[in-house]
Amino acid sequence: MCGIVGYVGGKSALDVVVDGLRRLEYRGYDSAGVAIVDCEGDCRLDVVKKAGKLANLEKELQTTPMPGTTGIGHTRWATHGGPNDRNAHPHTSCDGAVAVIHNGIIENFRALRDGLESRGHELDSDTDTEVVAHLLEERYVGDLAEALRAVCGQLDGAFTLVAVHRDSPDMVVGARRNSPLVIGRGNGENFLASDVAAFIAHTREAVEIGQDEVVELRADGYTLTDFSGSPAVGREYHVDWDLSAAEKGGYPYFMLKEIAEQPAAVADTLRGRLSPDGGIVLDEVRLSDQDLRDVDKVFIVACGTAFYAGLIAKYAIEHWTRIPCEVDIASEFRYRDPVLDRRTLVVAISQSGETLDTLMAVKHAREQGARVLAISNTNGSTIPRESDAVFYTRAGPEVGVAATKTFLTQITATYLVALALAQARGLKWADEVAALVHQLEQMPALIERVLGTVEPVRELARELADARVVLFLGRHVGYPVALEGALKLKELAYMHAEGFPAGELKHGPIALVESGVPVVIIVPPRGRGSLHDKVVSNIQEVRARGARTVVIADEDDEAVLPYADVLIAVPTTPTLLAPLVTVVPLQVFACELAQARGLDVDQPRNLAKSVTVE
Ligand code: G6P
Repeated sequence: MCGIVGYVGGKSALDVVVDGLRRLEYRGYDSAGVAIVDCEGDCRLDVVKKAGKLANLEKELQTTPMPGTTGIGHTRWATHGGPNDRNAHPHTSCDGAVAVIHNGIIENFRALRDGLESRGHELDSDTDTEVVAHLLEERYVGDLAEALRAVCGQLDGAFTLVAVHRDSPDMVVGARRNSPLVIGRGNGENFLASDVAAFIAHTREAVEIGQDEVVELRADGYTLTDFSGSPAVGREYHVDWDLSAAEKGGYPYFMLKEIAEQPAAVADTLRGRLSPDGGIVLDEVRLSDQDLRDVDKVFIVACGTAFYAGLIAKYAIEHWTRIPCEVDIASEFRYRDPVLDRRTLVVAISQSGETLDTLMAVKHAREQGARVLAISNTNGSTIPRESDAVFYTRAGPEVGVAATKTFLTQITATYLVALALAQARGLKWADEVAALVHQLEQMPALIERVLGTVEPVRELARELADARVVLFLGRHVGYPVALEGALKLKELAYMHAEGFPAGELKHGPIALVESGVPVVIIVPPRGRGSLHDKVVSNIQEVRARGARTVVIADEDDEAVLPYADVLIAVPTTPTLLAPLVTVVPLQVFACELAQARGLDVDQPRNLAKSVTVE
């Protein structure tokens, strides 16, 4: 969370930085700020920052000329200190010569601040970040990168730092521990950002900065070192999506565009995954076949929507591989002391590849000797780098804070990983794997069909805009779908929404049902036999108590017709693949309901797309 941009080159740094911030605003929107080094006449450092969304800063900048070709900018998701002008980044030193922006948490900032104050520094804000500006002031003797390396040695916690100094006007420096930082290589200009989206309009050539490294960025190149000053080499790569992928393309919200992109996202994630000899192709494998054969336990760790993808994956993994699989909220995982050893496979699911709780779960697993396989949408991000094998979903950039297309691609990816495991253990023949991949390949067309029939869902959402509570029920893989439907409604429409396993209904949740309460029920395909019939009974139970039933069922499921106040018919799919179609109306429902309530769908209050603090 927090978006970071740095620029040094020949253009107006302010224009480049603000444009980059616009593309990173999904990372946080509590405040925004810029610092530009202006060397017309004597060099000086100009800083402007404003609480609230980027638009507030842009308004302020209209009346503040800021020439200069070196600069940095930040959008904030507040951790230490409220979201006001004073706590907005960049933060400056007492002499106003250095400006710093930061993503992460400096855990020992209290002690550092006390030390600075005892040495006469006056700190202005309540943030942990500001100490870095003052420490740099103390350490700077003409070499900004050297000063930053020295300061990094004093810091505990997770941090990406980017700084400029009035007296080193031709450079931007950055440091990275845990939170992401990428270089964009231009022609006579270079960029630094927490996400390539910030500079994709200028260059698609990127360089990953490694853990505990410092970069000195100049217009004509860059130098990378570790924190002790030894040279380091970054991994160069080409970004294979273009600017249009990171723009709204005529949709009023990114989320609407991303919902519409789901068929393509799933198809892209599936492309080329079957090798000529019938094996499943992962993207990076630093494990032997024997390692995979030896796996006797799977843990899935993830947060938010990715966690729900993990809950769905559990059904496929256990069914296809017969290996026990547990799914853990990443932030709980290491604290409950799970039993892990070298035969354990931990599957870490993270769209961003940078969620700190998931990263810490990965590190814990590896310390205990477990193998880690990452499923991520972000090439070269931290979690894949820390893992033994990687499967990249190919959803393209997801800007809406609430995950949609990445959820579908995560489910797809986990299924392919399950098949790879089943195959490694000799439980599926190549033709069986091919048949299941073929079933998955049918899904983009079915998702497209759902998207073509969601208008009644929109109408329903507008009708229910004033509802106080919405309940979601599901069973088997429909249960995590119910959880995801409720999460989307909480995130986007700020409504009280809960998902329950339908079988638990009579053990508590049914007490919430009263006249007119909307209850959304995801009905399993009839192939599930008794489960289907049990859920149909649940529909009758809530309806008998006055609920308004919104039923999501197969299009040829006539058994639900008498009990559905609203019926949302979806194409019939094999049991395990049903979530790929049943969740789509729920995404549309939440998105439309939020719009009906006049809310900002792409930037819901208090949330950030990736959470890089614990
Ligand atoms: C945040 C986002 C969610 C996302 C979760 C996990 O809470 O708002 O949409 O599902 O982080 O993110 P990750 O990048 O690890 O998948």
